[in-house]
Amino acid sequence: MSDFKGSDVVSIRDLSKGRIEQVLALSEKMIPYARGEKSTKALDGRILANLFFEPSTRTRLSFESAMVRLGGRVIDVAYPAMTSVAKGETLADTIRMVESYSDVIVLRHPHEGAARLAAHFSTKPVINAGDGAGQHPTQTLLDLFTIRREKGKIEGMHIVMVGDLKYGRTAHSLAEALSLLGAELTFVAPQNLQMPRETVKEVERLGIKPKLASKIDDAIPQADVLYVTRIQRERFPDPSEYLKVAGSYRIDKNLLREAKKDLIVMHPLPRIDEIAPEVDNTPHARYFQQAFNGVPVRMAILLLVLGAEANEGF
Ligand code: NCD
Repeated sequence: MSDFKGSDVVSIRDLSKGRIEQVLALSEKMIPYARGEKSTKALDGRILANLFFEPSTRTRLSFESAMVRLGGRVIDVAYPAMTSVAKGETLADTIRMVESYSDVIVLRHPHEGAARLAAHFSTKPVINAGDGAGQHPTQTLLDLFTIRREKGKIEGMHIVMVGDLKYGRTAHSLAEALSLLGAELTFVAPQNLQMPRETVKEVERLGIKPKLASKIDDAIPQADVLYVTRIQRERFPDPSEYLKVAGSYRIDKNLLREAKKDLIVMHPLPRIDEIAPEVDNTPHARYFQQAFNGVPVRMAILLLVLGAEANEGF
């Protein structure tokens, strides 16, 4: 089962159902290592290059934690202003150089398509950690992992996605993967921030007919999972357009009164004001658990793309 070795992870569409299952199964085994209860040197001597040209806390740190937990090392560009990118170096040249310093490249970039371009120029696996308003496939894998762990299954679950579905890359990747795995979907967004047509078409091609809505209240009682996203301020061409939709949704205890008892609330984070802090202490909140799950899932992805999953008999 090492056909994963050497693969890029640019879009969730690059992963078949079988590969998604493979990542989720291996992620489960990684939990005690991610917690530091067991240790391994499976990626001893390997180097991960973290290239982040946009802000990040969780994705960058959880990739780093994952690599270190596996006995590997990380080199890192956290401040592009301090590199030759600031002198005008192209992404293609940066990648051609970084691939000679490392075994796997993790890239976050403000432009949609940047990771695909990087993968084209790199002989080493490139993992997309977010390309503009495009895709964020490793976030999706950890989101799927969280739903599976918390609900026991994905097929037939009703996932309500709410917020900025137009610019939110986590929403794009997740909607496609959930369709592939047979979940029911409702997309709740202000009309001008609804899920892009292209994503809706892909969801439909996979056999799911999503419900589109602009009001959250009606969607709550049916939801098994409420996936909340931030309005992506940095992607609005016009700040006044942002101000019109800022604060459109706020999930609070009152809104959750009509929810199923076992509803889980997820968020890729960071949150701004779309989930009230009072929700944190309810049995619904799962977003911090979800953030932890980034470590075992990214451990699994690194093992698979580096072809090392068999090293210690995982
Ligand atoms: C997300 C992202 O960068 O797309 N953050 C993350 O990786 N957890 C979500 C966001 O920034 O809103």
